[in-house]
Amino acid sequence: MGYPVQRPRRLRQNEAIRGLVRENELSVGKLILPLFAVPGRGVRREIPSLPGTYQMSIDHLVEEAAAVRDTGIPAVLLFGVPDTKDELASGAYAADGIVQQTIRLLKRAVRDLIVITDVCGCEYTTSGHCGYIRDGYLDNDASLDLIAKITLSHAEAGADIVAPACMLDGQIQRMRQALDDRGFSNLPIMSYAAKFASRLYDPFFKEGTHSTLAFGDKKTHQMDFANSDEAMREIGLDIEEGADIIIVKPALFCLDIVSRAKSQFHMPVAAYNVSGEYAMIDGAARLGRLNCDEIMLEALTAIRRAGADLIITYFAKRAAELLQRHDKDLSSHIDRAAVEEALGALA
Ligand code: PBG
Ligand code: ZN
Repeated sequence: MGYPVQRPRRLRQNEAIRGLVRENELSVGKLILPLFAVPGRGVRREIPSLPGTYQMSIDHLVEEAAAVRDTGIPAVLLFGVPDTKDELASGAYAADGIVQQTIRLLKRAVRDLIVITDVCGCEYTTSGHCGYIRDGYLDNDASLDLIAKITLSHAEAGADIVAPACMLDGQIQRMRQALDDRGFSNLPIMSYAAKFASRLYDPFFKEGTHSTLAFGDKKTHQMDFANSDEAMREIGLDIEEGADIIIVKPALFCLDIVSRAKSQFHMPVAAYNVSGEYAMIDGAARLGRLNCDEIMLEALTAIRRAGADLIITYFAKRAAELLQRHDKDLSSHIDRAAVEEALGALA
């Protein structure tokens, strides 16, 4: 029973009807904004390849976090950009490290803001690698000790959720155990469970955290981007080990992975719309080739449609502003003259 009985265009004839039957909605309450903390005071440096995103010292960062919370964005993902690095990544787990100090302040100063922390060594090692390198290879089990130390230091500082980023084997089990042993059995783990070795992270390293690799690559721990069954195995393992939320990264290049992950595991899924994805849209918009706001909303909606519950994105604030403006435009209008006329006709 096709045409002319079925006319799909009936439900697309105006925005009100399209809205009524819309299947997926972007909502501010599902966005997570990455923030970059640097030591010192009075620092607010824009990251050139991520316009609109700043490295900030805690005085500026706390103001930004409060402004972010006011837009309705519920959570931030915190990264530290330390002044000094070393072989052991000791700055990553120091009680007074940049991230630990920032967590403490945010939890005291900004009400109801969820502070998620990226748990990884790569911003803190001289090599730029995520953990400890032995004979040119990322030493899995030695690096688990580092990850456990970072995790506990974030938990003790008051982090609401920890997000392990380096795809070590057994990482979630080790973290869960460490947290439970220290009384943090209620602290959720948001695992970068399916994270692909992607050049889309380059802007993040080069200018976001200054942690470009001194040698080698991350292909022995991050996934080969040709694989998707393997992504399902990785996600399955992390869930068995105790992960509460699954991250798929990158997002736009992995919509198939997001979709499979959601339908196979029925767990909360977050997609990370990474620095290179931001740079692609922002760059094309600066060349006048694409409309930044429209493409941004289309991209973020596509991530939702694929099945992501949460979206980590450098666009979060901009998207929140646009969505709020849209809500305001929809607020009710009443045609007084029409009412008068109708009431007149009744009398
Ligand atoms: C690990 C981490 C990275 C990103 C977020 N957390 C780098 C990596 O995993 O190799 C990349 C994020 C982005 O490109 O926006 N600390
Ligand atoms: Zn790392």
